Amino acid sequence: MSKLSNEEINNIRNSVNIVDVVSSYIPLTKRGKNHFGVCPFHDDRDPSLSVSYEKQIYTCFSCGATGNVFTFIMDYEHLSFYESLKKVADIGGVAFDFGYSKPKVNKHRELYEIYEVAQLFYQNNINTEQGLVAKEYLFKRGFNEDVIKEFGIGLSLRDNEMLTKLLLKKKFLVEDLIKSGLVVNNNYGHNDIYYNRIMFPLTDITGKIIGYSGRIYNNEDTAKYINTKETPIFKKGELLYNYHRAKEESRIKKQVIIVEGFMDVIRCYTKDIKNVVATMGTAITKNQAMLIKKLTADVIICFDGDDAGARATLACSNELMNIGVVPKIVRLENNMDPDDYIRTYGVNRFKNKLEKAMNIMDFKLLYFKSNRNVSNSDEMADYINDILKELELVEDEILKELTLKKLSEESGLEIDVLKKQLVQKEKTLPKVLIAKKELVIKPKTIDKYTMAEQHLLYYMLKSKEVIAIYNKKVSFMPTARYRFLAQEINFFYKEYKYFDLADFFSFVADNEEIIKTIGEIQNLNLKDEYDLEEIDDYVNVIREYHINYECRRLMEKLNSETDVLEKAKIADKIKELKVGINL
Ligand code: UTP
Ligand code: MN
Repeated sequence: MSKLSNEEINNIRNSVNIVDVVSSYIPLTKRGKNHFGVCPFHDDRDPSLSVSYEKQIYTCFSCGATGNVFTFIMDYEHLSFYESLKKVADIGGVAFDFGYSKPKVNKHRELYEIYEVAQLFYQNNINTEQGLVAKEYLFKRGFNEDVIKEFGIGLSLRDNEMLTKLLLKKKFLVEDLIKSGLVVNNNYGHNDIYYNRIMFPLTDITGKIIGYSGRIYNNEDTAKYINTKETPIFKKGELLYNYHRAKEESRIKKQVIIVEGFMDVIRCYTKDIKNVVATMGTAITKNQAMLIKKLTADVIICFDGDDAGARATLACSNELMNIGVVPKIVRLENNMDPDDYIRTYGVNRFKNKLEKAMNIMDFKLLYFKSNRNVSNSDEMADYINDILKELELVEDEILKELTLKKLSEESGLEIDVLKKQLVQKEKTLPKVLIAKKELVIKPKTIDKYTMAEQHLLYYMLKSKEVIAIYNKKVSFMPTARYRFLAQEINFFYKEYKYFDLADFFSFVADNEEIIKTIGEIQNLNLKDEYDLEEIDDYVNVIREYHINYECRRLMEKLNSETDVLEKAKIADKIKELKVGINL
């Protein structure tokens, strides 16, 4: 890894303006000195992220996310510091030879390595004679060699110990093999979990393989798909199939399509529709919704055409709307999934469906009407109530008005009656929202020592004068995470003889703990100016803490000491220290 100097890193950072870079990811609005946007690092719909041109940093008032242009790209795109550096250099037009770039954290390396070996094995198998039937199956489903390769589709063999043997030969530990979910320990010894299945690698959002889904292809009497069990790197609720491939395309097309199955994704892909991700048949989680939101694209949900698909569509759209993303909906006829639909009617008709995607309220009108006999007035009343409840969540006034108009036509009720009813309902809504907000701000009582540490750090981040005072008079914080931050600030200051927060962020970019602590300190929102008297107070409080601590230690020593002379010495020391407090 080539090591860049602090100066080189800062040059790259200064080649771009953080406001421009952040606004290429999320919309920003200027208010006063700063720019504001909806924070992409927690679920929110209020603009709590502030980006400062002056300081070249960002800070979220709500979740405390903070950093400079590098850390923003790192967290947003899940890149390593060096990858982010490269990206910024690219944007800023700074030519640089970075040499080898270090991939992000290599925790659980053994798991990634096991999947790499497995991947070569499975992919090789499908190209052997044993793979002919599997390939035939895939061809029949409309996949060609290119697609099989692109998606890394492979085959596990009928003989269920081949992979285990291979992995053991490569000197992986048995416990890691079992942890990977590819090997099982049973009565017959160690065996492959997957055999005689078409293997679809599952990847994380950066494209690294973290598990598999294996599909039957010549045998009907067992589960259609088997997925790898969850591991430290594979959490089903955090993954969307094909996300890493669809990311760029979705941003370019400003649209992303969510489907249920990965066969649907691959089918779309064969027809050159590449902005597609799959939930893999489970209810969408908040995590997945956040991933979708990050694409800053229009969202179309196109789930299976059956009732289960309609229910899943409702759940998915609610999860998205909770974080401020309003999706459009496509429903497919005859219980078809996108794969069936494209096969039956062709891709053009499918594309046509996408273009004519319903707005969310039209879907809800359909959904809450299905399975109801609305010519019965009781059922009509239930229907109206359901829709009004859904409308409470809609912020778009035009959409609200349009829906009320349709509901009025369907029910024969005056639109004003419906509106009045809606206003009534909405009155109860803010309570919920406010209650949610209050949870975030924890009114914690903190002792004077912690407060002194926090306030001192707050001004250390602003002024090298305070750093120097800390150095001279304290140099040790009682609380571990504050101590680490103070140490890093000091180190930076001693090394480079200046302090700038945006530059400092590059210095600690790989240290999530420290950045989190900075976020916490910044969100104290103290006044900008300090006076030296106040700083002195903080210093004295921290010294008092240390002295008390030392006194306690000496008291213990005193109590266990038997030698009278020694006892007297210790007692003197304690007295001396206590005088120090009163200074
Ligand atoms: P589907 O049953 O709709 O599968 O489940 P599919 O994608 O249409 O697959 P084909 O066309 O029958 O081959 C949707 C998703 O649910 C998950 C899979 O991720 C699948 O893509 N699933 C389904 C399982 O995990 N296990 C199962 O047994 C079935
Ligand atoms: Mn299908």
